Parts: sequence; C-alpha cells; structure tokens
Amino acid sequence: MRIEENKSLKLYNSFGCNEISRYFAAVKSVDALLEAIAWSKEKIIPYYILGAGSNILFTKPFEGLVIKIEIVGILKTNETASEVFLNVGAGENWHHFVSYCIQKGWGGIENLSLIPGTVGASPIQNIGAYGVEVQETIESVTAIDTQSNQPITFNNLACKFSYRSSLFKEENNRYLITAVAFILKKQPQLRTEYGSIKETLREKGIKNPSLVAISNAIIQIRSSKLPDPKVLGNAGSFFKNPTLTTIDFEKLKTLFPQMIAYPISDDLYKIAAGWLIENCGWKGIRKGKVGCYEKQTLVLVNYDNASGNEILDFSEEIIQSVLKKFEIRLEREVIVL
Ligand code: EPU
Repeated sequence: MRIEENKSLKLYNSFGCNEISRYFAAVKSVDALLEAIAWSKEKIIPYYILGAGSNILFTKPFEGLVIKIEIVGILKTNETASEVFLNVGAGENWHHFVSYCIQKGWGGIENLSLIPGTVGASPIQNIGAYGVEVQETIESVTAIDTQSNQPITFNNLACKFSYRSSLFKEENNRYLITAVAFILKKQPQLRTEYGSIKETLREKGIKNPSLVAISNAIIQIRSSKLPDPKVLGNAGSFFKNPTLTTIDFEKLKTLFPQMIAYPISDDLYKIAAGWLIENCGWKGIRKGKVGCYEKQTLVLVNYDNASGNEILDFSEEIIQSVLKKFEIRLEREVIVL
C-alpha cells in the first residue's frame, strides 16, 4: 500500500473541486483496505472512503487519509435456467458493469445505464433512475465492519433500502463496502413505462426493444438532460425529491395547481424538486463560477474552478428560496465534506 501526501482531490470528485487530502491511498484488495484503515487508526487520523467521487462535495482540506477503493472483478458465482448470480468488486465502474451485463443478455439494471460512480457506492444511496432502483437486483452486500474490522454480509432485507438511502447511509461510514452480489434475469421483464423511454423508442421505430435498445434510449435521454461531468463539473441530482403528506400536498396543490408530484403510498407524495427550483426562477441561473443547469435544475454545475464552499453557498440560496415560496426545505442528495 502506497500512501501519498498532500494530494489534490480535483481528479477524484466529479465537481472538480480542488481540495487537498493530507494523505491518500488507492487500495486494490480487501487486505490493502484493512492495512490502510489500521494505518490511519495508528496515526489517530480520520479516513474517508472514496468511490468515483460522483456524489460528493469537498468544501475544505481533509486532514486525514482518503482511501480510494479500486477493488475490481465481476465473478459469476451461480446460474440457473432463468437467473445469473454475480459477485462484483466495489471499485468496478458502474456503467462498465451495466454494459458488461447487457452484452451478456442479463437484465435488471439496464435502466440504470450511464449513472456515474462505482458498484460499491450503488447500494449506499440505492441509486435509481427511470423507474428502477438498484435494490431490486441486489442479493447481498459484503462490507468491513469498522467496529470489529471483520467482514460482514448483509442480505437484501438487512440492507434496509429506501428511496436514496440504506443501512450503509444511515450508519454513516461504519460499513465499508467491498463487494456487491447481484441476481440478474436471463429473460428480463423490460421496464419502459417511465418518462420518455417509450417515446424515444418510438422515435427510433423500435417495437420490441432489446436490452441494448433500452440502454441506448436511456443513454440518449440522460445525455440530453444531464451534463457530462468530464465537460462540466457536477454530481448529478444535488437535491432529493422531497415527500409531503397527502394533506400537505393537497393544500400546496391548490396554491400551485401545476406542481408535479407522484403518490408513493396512501398518505405520501413525492414532489419533483426540479419543478420547485425551476419555479423559483433558478433554471439556467449562474452566479460567479456556479450555476443551476439549464436543462435540469436539480443539477448544480461548476463552470470554472469553483470551490466547494461556493457551490454549497449557491445551494443554500436555492434551499432558502424554495423554503420561502413553498415552505418545503430541500435536502441535499450529495454528501458534503
Ligand atoms: N422537472 C422540472 N424542472 C426541472 C427538472 C424536472 O419541472 O428542472 C420536472 C420534470 O418535467 C418532470 C419531473 O420534474 O415532470 C421529474 O423530472 P425527471 O424525470 O427528470 O426526474 P427527477 O425527479 O428530476 C430523478 C432522479 C435522477 C434520475 C431521474 C430519472 C432524484 C433526486 N433524481 O430526477 O437521478 O436520473 O429521476 O429517473 O431522485 C441522480 O441521482 O444523480 C439523478 C440524476
């Protein structure tokens, strides 16, 4: 294990914020990960586990050890007539894994094409897009329990998945994910009901879509709506879609009949935060080096070497204006460090 000192994190977060970590190590195995943790414990400094850095905002220098997980590998552990069982290293690039499965004809995660990040990060906030959440395909998650330094495997139920959350997010870094086990389908039920998937397929004249066709449609939709972090620093949705009780939702709906929302249970509604932000006038607004993306207001963009604090201040202005107009306090989806 090689420890680097005073390392810029600019290339390790999709916002491209140039904060420094006092120490930095990239680990390619569970043993190297354990070694890195032991090293930071011995030095009595904090550590932070980093995947692809696509959901994080660094706002200050990190006075500890950043450990970048580079544990890779996709292993088929079992197979039946209808299903395939895979064990995947936490450091695998998510989209690379999705593409690999699509190419093999294994379905279940094609709607999650092009989501930035790593396989190990996918269960933490239970990534979701176009009507699918990753929890639907996860069999189990293996992690290091930092309280005992022992590996531990959680079955799907034990992961306590919910909208953009899980046990791993709730327990705030207690468990360090090293591998994720998936069950994918050989004759998948394709999911085309969400948003513009059907429309995109129709435009292309595709009547009976394959996994590749769905994935290509999703890639086309995402690319048209979301900025490429390689071109314009961003972390995807910066805010979560808030939930309201049906009573509160109905009150608000009488004041703002155009408001976009979806029922998620008998007594809860999920409100489109993008709509709330847009209706506070933020669409395409740029202040200094930071802006609200013109095609999707949930996304904040770093136009020109903005610091994490400039992005944080900008997001606070949005939160305050949404609070003032709609009496809803938006929560950040990204992790602020
Ligand atoms: N909307 C607006 N203005 C905007 C953005 C959206 O009015 O600026 C409206 C849209 O017209 C639509 C509704 O809000 O009716 C929902 O928009 P969209 O379908 O784009 O989805 P979203 O709720 O904004 C969520 C995820 C995205 C994911 C998409 C597609 C969250 C926080 N975000 O966004 O995830 O790609 O659905 O399934 O749940 C991410 O997490 O990084 C991410 C991009």
